[in-house]
Amino acid sequence: MRLTTDRLILREFTADDWPAVWAYQQNPLYLRYYPWEDRPPEDVRRFVQTFIAQQAESPRLRYQLAITLKENGQLIGNCGLRQKTARAPEAGLGYELDPRFWGRGCATEAARAMVQFGFTRLNLHRISARCIADNRNSIRVLEKLGMQREGHLRETDYFKDRWWDTLVYAILAHEWPPR
Ligand SMILES: CC(C)(COP(=O)(O)OP(=O)(O)OC[C@H]1O[C@@H](n2cnc3c(N)ncnc32)[C@H](O)[C@@H]1OP(=O)(O)O)[C@@H](O)C(=O)NCCC(=O)NCCS
Repeated sequence: MRLTTDRLILREFTADDWPAVWAYQQNPLYLRYYPWEDRPPEDVRRFVQTFIAQQAESPRLRYQLAITLKENGQLIGNCGLRQKTARAPEAGLGYELDPRFWGRGCATEAARAMVQFGFTRLNLHRISARCIADNRNSIRVLEKLGMQREGHLRETDYFKDRWWDTLVYAILAHEWPPR
């Protein structure tokens, strides 16, 4: 599976991608809204291995692709959709980006291609996403995709010495693409 946008190529992960992921997942900016305090290399290797294993699923339910720069092939993050079952009308959207590339619209560009894939190729009816309510950058990505806020779940997660709320966003097939 491969998706191409103006600036990006979303491609399948390979085993030698993990050092690039490890490099950015240690950045405190990246770690801020995750329970992880740090990312041991073996954990990151497993993380990438999970995405590689998805490629062999039949039927395939999860597509977590590497986000790479078209200009030089550099891996700068990942983006994907996850269905619970093959007939599920809904998939969950997730993404993350190397902080050195934040603020250029890359996550939004990648997520837009993934949502388009979900509605046109997977024939999904609904795509949803959850994010920590303090994660302003992620909220902006979801808003720019045209997703609507459907819920505010109070104190769903406890990590880094405090409770965190979670927001639920979604968009329906007939709302895509947003005007
Ligand atoms: C959420 C995330 C993927 C956004 O990536 P991105 O490529 O920077 O997204 P965009 O460029 O579309 O920017 C989204 C918003 O982030 C904010 N932002 C991005 N970079 C910023 C920076 N360096 N400083 C301040 N704000 C910044 C802007 O408000 C922007 O919104 P705008 O377009 O209205 O100005 C990225 O911040 C990230 O990887 N975070 C860590 C992992 C994560 O939280 N994943 C989502 C889990 S739900």
